[in-house]
Amino acid sequence: MSDIDTRIENIRKGITKRAAAMKSKAKKQGFQFKPFSTKQKKVLTWWCPASPVKDMDGIIADGAIRSGKTLSMSLSYVLWAMNSFNQQNFGMAGKTIGSFRRNVLFWLKLMLASRKYTVIDKRSDNLLIVSKGNTVNYFYIFGGKDERSQDLIQGITLAGMFFDEVALMPESFVNQATGRCSVDGSKYWFNCNPDSPRHWFKVNWIDKAEEKRLVYLHFTMDDNLSLSERIKARYRGMYVGVFFKRYIEGIWCVAEGLVYSMFDEDRHVKDTHMTGEKEWVVSVDYGTVNPFAAGLWAFDGRRAQKESEYYYDSKETGIRRDDETHYQEICKLIGDRKVSFIIVDPSAASFIEAIKKHGKYIAKGAENDVLDGIRVQTTFLNRGIISYHEDCEATINEYGLYSWDMESPEDVVIKEFDHCMDSDRYYCYTFLRRRLRWKY
Ligand SMILES: Nc1ncnc2c1ncn2[C@@H]1O[C@H](COP(=O)(O)OP(=O)(O)O)[C@@H](O)[C@H]1O
Ligand SMILES: [Mg+2]
Repeated sequence: MSDIDTRIENIRKGITKRAAAMKSKAKKQGFQFKPFSTKQKKVLTWWCPASPVKDMDGIIADGAIRSGKTLSMSLSYVLWAMNSFNQQNFGMAGKTIGSFRRNVLFWLKLMLASRKYTVIDKRSDNLLIVSKGNTVNYFYIFGGKDERSQDLIQGITLAGMFFDEVALMPESFVNQATGRCSVDGSKYWFNCNPDSPRHWFKVNWIDKAEEKRLVYLHFTMDDNLSLSERIKARYRGMYVGVFFKRYIEGIWCVAEGLVYSMFDEDRHVKDTHMTGEKEWVVSVDYGTVNPFAAGLWAFDGRRAQKESEYYYDSKETGIRRDDETHYQEICKLIGDRKVSFIIVDPSAASFIEAIKKHGKYIAKGAENDVLDGIRVQTTFLNRGIISYHEDCEATINEYGLYSWDMESPEDVVIKEFDHCMDSDRYYCYTFLRRRLRWKY
């Protein structure tokens, strides 16, 4: 391992250890509540006998990240269920079962234990049995994006359904699940961060909240009293552009114009190469008819710079290049530098094979979650974590063209001038994000 590898590995171990220590301390001490904000109190009490809105059919909480929605809603949901029903089935869903267990269930179990509820987690059935005194209820865990959950939910009768991060689930799952709530007095519970105003959840649920008899609450980070000003400032610094508006300001807004509007040649383009010790990685967006784009990236443990690029457009030259020729061009780009691996467009199976056949470099399929990748890249640009050597002309050109598709109801980029942009996103999302994880 190089020095950088060792350093990063040590930092990573430190963080994993700290996170594990935090969770085990929480387990020992029970959940340490901070005072609830007024909004959180509304979420916690709207169904109580004294509440003027107790007869409504459900509740929606949307708004900024880390604003205390999930914590207050998950707890309130189970308290409502336990106070209103006995021997009934309830549903709880996250984007996936795994993300629900990580983000919601761990803390929910602690909170319930601190309120003297007995919780049995039947992991293999994704079933939580919650009891207190003579009351017992059954909470089934679903993942909106898990296919098996979509099958399982079809046969069940529910007295309530809680959707955490509902905007990340398919509409069909939410319709299925709400359709199963046939027990008298059943209620729907939703929370999410904003997305496009044309998103199905905004149009079909939030905009129709009154008609559907749903309580609607909007959260900002100030509604979470457990966050210090310093932590809030850190979150604010993590997002930019449309993601800032949605995740920090909590506004449902369209992604429009240039995707990387924060790219600024004065700030991000350099006429010098990085100095000192570096880790080298290449990232590739593969194309035969479409352009082929590869970038050589240097990372010094804090920042990364794309030092040079290889861009080939067969439409411009009229000559197609085969995989072997592209591979040789990448070898030229690398020269005698020691490259950790080449990250490749996951759909380019033939090119991954071509790299493996030579046995000189390790090929790695890129993680291709477009929106998450773009969000991470915007943050890196905004914080000056990535920069470009002025030789990367095709990349700099694409930054001025790569745009959101305004015709689409969802966040979609126009599939044009996107080759260097895709290869940079692969680098940021598959490699750099992991190397820098400890900073977030
Ligand atoms: N009343 C509270 N007491 C202690 N911690 C809280 C409280 N409210 C929120 N938190 C903590 O703040 C963080 C963000 O809350 P969360 O409910 O996950 O926000 P959101 O769902 O809006 O993103 C979590 O770590 C959560 O445990
Ligand atoms: Mg949440």
